[in-house]
Amino acid sequence: MSKNTYKKIVILTGAGLSAESGLHTFRDKDGIWAKYDYREVATPEGYQRNPSLVLDFYNERRRQSAGVKPNAAHGALARLEAEYPGLVLTVTQNIDPLHEAAGSKQLIHMHGEIAKALCSACGGRHAIGGEDITVSSACPACGMPSTLRPDVVWFGEMPYRMDEIYRALTTCDLFLSIGTSGTVYPAANFVLEAAASGAHTVELNLEPSERYGGFREAIHGPATEIVPAYVDRLLRAARG
Ligand code: APR
Repeated sequence: MSKNTYKKIVILTGAGLSAESGLHTFRDKDGIWAKYDYREVATPEGYQRNPSLVLDFYNERRRQSAGVKPNAAHGALARLEAEYPGLVLTVTQNIDPLHEAAGSKQLIHMHGEIAKALCSACGGRHAIGGEDITVSSACPACGMPSTLRPDVVWFGEMPYRMDEIYRALTTCDLFLSIGTSGTVYPAANFVLEAAASGAHTVELNLEPSERYGGFREAIHGPATEIVPAYVDRLLRAARG
């Protein structure tokens, strides 16, 4: 391993990574939260008030996610994981399946996955691909009707696998933040955790994020251009 190799790279990704695959981000001018009130469609209270509205919101996003392909940025991250001599872990805020479709395996979906359903009766999580969930959908495991919701983390709920994520942040020596506005916690604070552990921190984003000042390095531009170029740079340096 050349001396220019990081031992462990942790990569945080957000909606900007999937934008060039054709999926809307949340906070850009044509973003999802410009069309929907997140309190109505992405909170437990909204789901209690109107489950059909919430299920239809995610059914539409599930159909969109099933109809798009990973882009060159997803592919570059999968290549980094496969070819880099150090460890590479991707922590995504995205609920789309594009990282897996590009070949990433060391992957944590901290906000859940739109292609999975969660049963409120048995707690089971089930892959449902591009299928719709309705208010009467039955759980494929326990058979109970009207118990399925999207297996996604709503505002006010605890993101998944946070212990693993913090262990990775406190032991990595390179932290990359790609395609995220840095406005939603706890992900927005990951750069501080990594920096406190001595990691080099890099923001790769279309434009400076809210947390831009917290990074030691920043590269701005479309993910399909800046991410493959940065991955090539890491691989070249590791080859010495
Ligand atoms: N290439 C790189 N970055 C891009 C591109 C692109 N082609 N297009 C947009 N971006 C950047 C935007 O500049 C913005 O900083 O991606 C970021 C997207 O920010 P958000 O829309 O806020 O999405 P994200 O940061 O992933 O949101 C975090 O908020 O609503 C919740 O649960 C939801 O996981 C989501 C979380």
